[in-house]
This record gives sequence, C-alpha cells and structure tokens, in this order.
Amino acid sequence: MVQKLKEQYRPQFHFSPEEKWMNDPNGMVYFNGEYHLFYQYNPFDTIWGPMHWGHAVSKDLIHWEQLPIALLPDEHGTIFSGSAVVDWHNSSCFFEDDQPGLVAIYTSNDTYPDSERIRQRQCLAYSKDNGRTWVKYEKNPVLSDYTKTDFRDPKVFWHDATKKWIMILATGQSVTIYTSPNLKEWEFASEFGSNAGSHAGFWECPDLFPLAVENEENKIKWVMLVSIGDTGTSKEGSRTQYFIGDFDGKTFVNDHEDETVLWLDYGMDNYAGVSWSDIPAKDGRRMYIGWMSNWRYANQVPTKEWRGAMTLPRELSLISNEKGIRLLQKPVSEINLIRRETSVQQNLLVESDNPVCFDMNNQLVEINIELEKINGTKFDLIIQHSEFDRTEIRYNVLQETLVIDRANSGVHQFSASFPVLQEAPLTLKNNKINMQIFLDISSIEIFANDGEAAITSLLYPSEGRKQLILLSHIGNMKVNTLELTELCTIWD
Ligand code: FRU
Repeated sequence: MVQKLKEQYRPQFHFSPEEKWMNDPNGMVYFNGEYHLFYQYNPFDTIWGPMHWGHAVSKDLIHWEQLPIALLPDEHGTIFSGSAVVDWHNSSCFFEDDQPGLVAIYTSNDTYPDSERIRQRQCLAYSKDNGRTWVKYEKNPVLSDYTKTDFRDPKVFWHDATKKWIMILATGQSVTIYTSPNLKEWEFASEFGSNAGSHAGFWECPDLFPLAVENEENKIKWVMLVSIGDTGTSKEGSRTQYFIGDFDGKTFVNDHEDETVLWLDYGMDNYAGVSWSDIPAKDGRRMYIGWMSNWRYANQVPTKEWRGAMTLPRELSLISNEKGIRLLQKPVSEINLIRRETSVQQNLLVESDNPVCFDMNNQLVEINIELEKINGTKFDLIIQHSEFDRTEIRYNVLQETLVIDRANSGVHQFSASFPVLQEAPLTLKNNKINMQIFLDISSIEIFANDGEAAITSLLYPSEGRKQLILLSHIGNMKVNTLELTELCTIWD
C-alpha cells in the first residue's frame, strides 16, 4: 500500500496514522526482518477513547506501512499499552513444533462488574503470522491485583542469566517487577520507586534494559525509563524520567541515592517512549520511539484528519561524564535514507549583534551546526518558518541553558501550556557546542552535544520560505561547520 499523506501539518518523515487518534507506542518488536510498531489507537475519533492496538511495520525504521488494527477490545475491556516479545523457544506453548512466534502482553482496562471503579489486568495474545492476526489467550487475564487501581503498561523481556521472563509494570507511583517461566504465570519479585525520582504524576509505561557504558571498559548498567503523567500542576505536563542502576533478575538498585531526577528529553513532546525488543545481537542497538505529544494538550492540537505522531526512532547509549553516567540519544543511522542535497558552510564569523541568514529551500530540513569561540553572553538560532512564524533556539552562556521558544511559531492558542519555554541544561565543551536539528512540517527535534540533551517539540507554523538566522549577543562566535540537508518525505 502506498500512502500519500499530505494534509496540513501532516508529518512527512515521522509516523502518524492515516486517520484518527494515536497515543503511546506499544508492542515494539523486531521479527523476521520487520520492525513492528503497535500503538494506542481510537479508530472512531480524533480524541482519546476506546483503545485498540493500531499496527504499522517497517523494514528500515523510517518508511512505515500501516496495517489493519491488531487488537480490539473484548470481554476484558479496552486494550491499553503493553509490549511484545518473540517467544523463541515456545515457552508459552502457543506455537507448534517449537517454532518461534510473537506474544503481546498488554493491559485490559475495564470497570468492576458491580461498581465504576477502574480495573486493569494483564492479558496475552499471540500471533503465528508475523503479527498480521492475533489470538487472545483463552485464560486471560494472566496478572491482576485487586488492591491496585493503576496497574498497567507491562514491558516484558527475557533475562538470560536467570532464564526467566521479566515484566516491569507501572503500579501507581512505583513500578513492580514480576518473573515468569512461560509468560502465563507471574510471580512478584520486587517493587521500586516510591522514594526515587519524580512523583509529579502517576507512573506509566516503564522499560528496563542493559546498556554498555561507552567510555568504560566492560561496564554494563541497567536503564529504567518511567513516564510520568500530567496532573495539570507542573509546567511541563507529561514527560519521561530515567534511572541508572543494576538489576539481578529480581531487584533494581538505583545508583542515585540523592534527589537527582534525570530527564530523557527536555522538550514537551516525547512521552511514553519504550524500546524495541529482540533486535538481533549482531545489530546490538537499543532503540526507542516516543509519542510526540503531551497529555496537557494532546486532544487539542490543531490537526484534523488524525491526531498523534511518533518521534524519530532513536538509538540510546550510555556515557560516563563529570556528572555521572548519563543517557545519550541520537536518531537512528537509517535516517540517511531520506537525506538529499546538503549545503555546507565552514569557518564563518558571526559578529556581535549582527544576524546572519541562510535560506533553507525545503520544508523538511536537517541542520547540523558546530559553534566555537562563543565570546558573547548568548546566541540565538532562529528558524523563520514563514513571514510571521518563527521558532527560537537560545543558548545562554552564563546560565548554561538551551531554551526553545515556540510562542511565535504558529498556531498555539489551543493551550496556554503550549508557548511555555522548554529548557535543557547544557555545558559548553572547550567553548564549543554542536546541534543536530530535524525540522518536519509540525515538529522540531534537537540533539545537542552529541545527544547529551534532546528537545522534542511540536510546532504548527504556516508554510512559507524557510530561513535560518544566527545571532550572537555581546561578542562574536565562530561557525565551524553548518550543514543544511534537504530531507524527503517517507509517504511517496
Ligand atoms: C500513557 C497511558 C498509559 C495507558 C495508555 C492509555 O500515555 O496513559 O498508561 O496504558 O496511555 O491509552
């Protein structure tokens, strides 16, 4: 199926459903040459509603083919977030002749028969045909806890050292870990988090995986991602934190005994991200995708035919720096597939308070810039989308902060929270800074200092002639390199 999706604000190199509402990525798994992306989907409306699992597949993480809905509500309720794994050795006995197959583990959401109280229970479905059709397990649900109301979003993986399946589940303001030999019977292992990290909202969509620390030999750490919901009180709305620590198959031990909160992304529009399961060992990457929106205004953003898009797929890595071990992220290398013409500028001086402009001949652009000898107090990188609409990226040298201001970037009146400043801490390295920026029709993603800080943000500008403006305040700076690359649509 060739999709041509060209409506106003339609992302051209990010996944969005052809029509109707989408939120969290679900069931991300790689199997038989395909990356699967399931997602929270309401096929009836462009606002959140009865959840199904929508489905798309890709052979390269960039071009997506939307497939029919994979999981529909049933007698146990609507289908909330969850994960999928390859059951390589048929531990579940769902498959014949010890053939591998896909098993989805998701939350069924309904209410108790005799009250309005929400009931969330974990269920299974399996597929013998590469995720095209699914059979629900006849003994669903496989995991319930009637003492807990928020009991959802299972992320499951195989833990080779203990030869067990592990499930990490969001349980109110904590996560709970369970183990199983066969995906059907689950045993409590531990609970983590009631005294750690941010509790600005209820915890959702956890993930847990090991990663090597790149600049320390033979050091493996475990990363836990936890999204925190919007309670309407914070400036930022919903967002995702992470923890670094160790995991022995039962218990996660957090490295940060102090109050440190580590944010995955400093922009408002990267939520509920989880990583792909079963990436082949010879590839070895840990890749994730997030929902590019925020519960604060997700139901109000000004798209018509559909609502919701995913971030670019990103590769995660760990690095040890002066602050400790930190997560870095960068877009997957497959992004190369949509790169077209590049124009390169080198060794340019941006004089104090004297703006320099560059034309960008395309609506879809990647900007790679390296700045050095930053002698001023601040500098701005302004994306002029059209005559009136501009997004400003500002770096403050004294405060060491990178800020994105979308107050004048286009339509924002749908939410008072949309124009608030989004700020990331970022230190200069040898008086240098680099940024990789992706501009789609209705989003911007910034990866600063090789992925140390990411800012993901929706934008709704009118289209026009795009320009990039560089401005240095009270002092010069040098542009080492500036590359402007035209990107092409994934929908042709
Ligand atoms: C996160 C979330 C999940 C839940 C799903 C419902 O955005 O609230 O916790 O499973 O969305 O659509």
